[in-house]
Amino acid sequence: MIEELFVLNKEYVDIKSIKRSPLTLKLLVLVLAAVYAIYIVCTFNVEQTMIPFRTSTKLLELKVFNHSCHPSPVEQWELPYLHYPQPNTFNREECGCNPVRYFCILSMQRSGSGWFETLLNSHINISSNGEIFDVIKRRENVSSILKTMDKVYNLDWFTSASKNECNAAVGYKWMLNQGVMEHHKEIVEYFQRKRVSVIFLLRRNFLRRVVSVLANSYDKYAKPLNGTHKSHVHSTIEAKVLAKYKPRINTTLLMEELKQTEETAAKAIEYFNNTRHIVLYYEDLFKNLTKLKDVQEFLRLPYRDLQSHQIKIHTKPLSMQIENWYEVHKILKGTPYQSFLFSE
Ligand SMILES: *[C@@H]1O[C@H](CO)[C@@H](O)[C@H](O)[C@H]1NC(C)=O
Ligand SMILES: *[C@@H]1O[C@H](CO)[C@@H](O)[C@H](O)[C@H]1NC(C)=O
Ligand SMILES: *[C@@H]1O[C@H](CO)[C@@H](O)[C@H](O)[C@H]1NC(C)=O
Ligand SMILES: *[C@@H]1O[C@H](CO)[C@@H](O)[C@H](O)[C@H]1NC(C)=O
Ligand SMILES: *[C@@H]1O[C@H](CO)[C@@H](O)[C@H](O)[C@H]1NC(C)=O
Ligand SMILES: *[C@@H]1O[C@H](CO)[C@@H](O)[C@H](O)[C@H]1NC(C)=O
Ligand SMILES: *[C@@H]1O[C@H](CO)[C@@H](O)[C@H](O)[C@H]1NC(C)=O
Repeated sequence: MIEELFVLNKEYVDIKSIKRSPLTLKLLVLVLAAVYAIYIVCTFNVEQTMIPFRTSTKLLELKVFNHSCHPSPVEQWELPYLHYPQPNTFNREECGCNPVRYFCILSMQRSGSGWFETLLNSHINISSNGEIFDVIKRRENVSSILKTMDKVYNLDWFTSASKNECNAAVGYKWMLNQGVMEHHKEIVEYFQRKRVSVIFLLRRNFLRRVVSVLANSYDKYAKPLNGTHKSHVHSTIEAKVLAKYKPRINTTLLMEELKQTEETAAKAIEYFNNTRHIVLYYEDLFKNLTKLKDVQEFLRLPYRDLQSHQIKIHTKPLSMQIENWYEVHKILKGTPYQSFLFSE
């Protein structure tokens, strides 16, 4: 080994001068031998531990990385969730190498998802594109659903929420009654394949949701706000005007309706159990906006203070917001839904 080493290094060592001093020669040989031994040990160990690691990351890279992009450090499990879309409609330019995460908000009408979306969209890097599947044509069959999602996730969908080039998370909200339940199998398969993270936004109090649904459909034709229908408002004055209307609830159907809502929510969470997801409740978020930190952490985005200008419409106790309160109270008393009567 020493011979070999010496031969290898012959070109760089003036052998004649060293031969004159045998002590120096011995020392030099010793040092070189030690260095070589360390080198051999290191390469051997590294090679052994690196081989499986290297192959697996290479496979991953081929699948998800644009080789000219070097994402800032992320955890290994996150890699498949990073996308580098190349939109057909514009060039991502300076942000072409910023990874984009995909998400979808699964919710129900009147559960605070409009408010939640305005909060998300106040983040400079989030685009939540609204209720895109309220248009029936887009959810007529599975292929039109998949095509619509492809377009959104490729950043080729334009709404006022689009952040274009420097988008870091793109999604939309989707009501459970807009084809989600019917086509759950194909949608889950798509979410798993494309690594779409799911945010469930549900309401704890389904009775308050009923009030909101009835009030909103009343507003659609009554339009007390100067003749414009508003599902969401931005001032306390407007909120007060809308809250003036006290809906009458059809108690024949109420128990059944609450039960169905509860079952639908539970079933949806079960269907999407094997996707990456979190479950949020409107009431919890409203009470504690710090929970938005959890959402941003879930989306793996740099933390920002999120803001919305929307104002809650129904803030009073339900007894003051339901026309036939005593009737509703009588029907729900002693049932599993009793707690809805008096909670937020
Ligand atoms: C990779 O990213 C660079 C920089 O944004 C971009 O110019 C290039 O087109 C991308 N290539 C592929 C194959 O994604
Ligand atoms: C799905 O719906 C779209 C849009 O309405 C339609 O153009 C298409 O033919 C339908 N595809 C199938 C397979 O039914
Ligand atoms: C967020 O957007 C800003 C401004 O457009 C951009 O400079 C930044 O790189 C983006 N951040 C991420 C994480 O994509
Ligand atoms: C609606 O009408 C009120 C007065 O009735 C007025 O003060 C307000 O500016 C109007 N709002 C809009 C949006 O037109
Ligand atoms: C309540 O709903 C039932 C079933 O749809 C209907 O028969 C009944 O007329 C409704 N009651 C009122 C007061 O609207
Ligand atoms: C979801 O899956 C986990 C583990 O696979 C299981 O423990 C849990 O009960 C499931 N939850 C629902 C709501 O199906
Ligand atoms: C608010 O939410 C944050 C984040 O989930 C949590 O750490 C904190 O304890 C909550 N505060 C209250 C008062 O519940």
